Amino acid sequence: MSETNTEKATLTIGDKTIELPVHIGTEGDKSIDISKLFDEHGLTVFDPSLGSTSICKSTITYIDGEKGILRYRGIPIEQFDRPKPNFIEVAHLLIFGTLPNRSELSEFSTRLTDNELLHEGLRRQFNELPPKSPPMAILSAMLSQLACYHEKFLPLGDDELFIEAATRLISKARTIAAYSYRRSKGLPFMFPDPAMRYCGNFLHMMFSIPFQQYIVSEEIEDAMNLVFILHADHEQNCSTATVRTVGSAKANLFASCAAAVSALWGPLHGGANVEVVKMLETIQSDGMTPELCIEAAKDKSNPFKLFGFGHRVYKNYDPRARILRNAADRVFSQLKTRDPLLDTARKLEELALQDSYFVDRKLYPNVDFYSGILLRAMGIPTNMFTVIFAIGRLPGWIAQWKEQHDNMAQKIIRPRQVYCGNKIMDYVPIEER
Ligand code: ACO
Repeated sequence: MSETNTEKATLTIGDKTIELPVHIGTEGDKSIDISKLFDEHGLTVFDPSLGSTSICKSTITYIDGEKGILRYRGIPIEQFDRPKPNFIEVAHLLIFGTLPNRSELSEFSTRLTDNELLHEGLRRQFNELPPKSPPMAILSAMLSQLACYHEKFLPLGDDELFIEAATRLISKARTIAAYSYRRSKGLPFMFPDPAMRYCGNFLHMMFSIPFQQYIVSEEIEDAMNLVFILHADHEQNCSTATVRTVGSAKANLFASCAAAVSALWGPLHGGANVEVVKMLETIQSDGMTPELCIEAAKDKSNPFKLFGFGHRVYKNYDPRARILRNAADRVFSQLKTRDPLLDTARKLEELALQDSYFVDRKLYPNVDFYSGILLRAMGIPTNMFTVIFAIGRLPGWIAQWKEQHDNMAQKIIRPRQVYCGNKIMDYVPIEER
């Protein structure tokens, strides 16, 4: 951020003219600073979904929605789509700001391995939960409960305690997630295997059964890494803004991330890839053609939408969707299988991208359009899709929480409102109502 910027914006209201500072980001984005508008002039701005409001200065993730650009700490997202993607490297990059060297990576990985087990008290709680408990409810509740079992990491302001809390979250979220699936299937829990890497270990806890080890194929492990990486941060989305809001009250890292999981659970946020798969399955089972589906999505009298299309920020192809589409092709070819849902999705995309309705409105595939198909290919059940998203997003939430926490100028987030209710009126005793 330029600290020497002299550009000003001018706001005129009635006979008053107010000069406002302008912040300019690294890539030239401009943001008018209205932070003193209320204190100095008694005015607020109205922006209910905060669509035109920057809530922070951040160095973590850059998005240009018009151009379809996403970068983590400056590195284009496409560069993480490597033969051997490594989620742990990306987690380190987001949280600490740099790619780890070999010894840093080894130390970070060791910390994660050391923390992969759940406290027995927490583990026993799974037995008390109804088998059909939504995995997102379990994840949110149990991340919050980590505060009960790891109380000594709650004090804020100590970097070593922060790393201890962060690595516990990243490591145990994976164990909690796998156990929530096992509980729903009535299967015994598989302990994590310290000899396995982060993603392989997760797949092992999900799919091994006693005396029958799940063989983690390289293709599936790489795809899992890639899915986690592509979800690892996305600047100030709903769940990340939740982390910052809760964290601004100086709530601990466990509580802040548990709140973010709840936000992510919503179908307008993390739950959209479930809707995409349901839509593709319905197209298949009802014998509906992709052409009819496109027509239905365009029909304003029909509430149907083309799920996985359109994005609040991207008005271009979501770069994550392109990577996931290619990854889905790669995984199916490596596994020598084919999912008819992928063919339907490709056809829908082809039709939409040639249709003026979608072209004029800049509606392109978003991250959710292909992620569900890829997760299905990996054997991940639909009720775990959003949980996978949450595991991937944890490093981003943690990085954003830390960045905010280290900003000494940060105050508690406390928006204002435009009150439109009754004018002053008298209380009426109950016998007179
Ligand atoms: N299918 C058909 N029409 C659409 C779609 C769609 N998927 N998305 C937007 N439109 C239309 C709207 O009806 C509107 O048309 P109009 O101008 O004639 O009224 C126009 O495109 C603009 O739509 P908005 O809702 O204003 O776009 P916005 O940017 O606010 O919303 C959103 C983005 C919510 C993602 C929307 O595109 C949508 O509902 N998509 C389907 C759900 C989905 O895939 N969500 C996942 C998003 S990614 C994520 O959260 C991780």
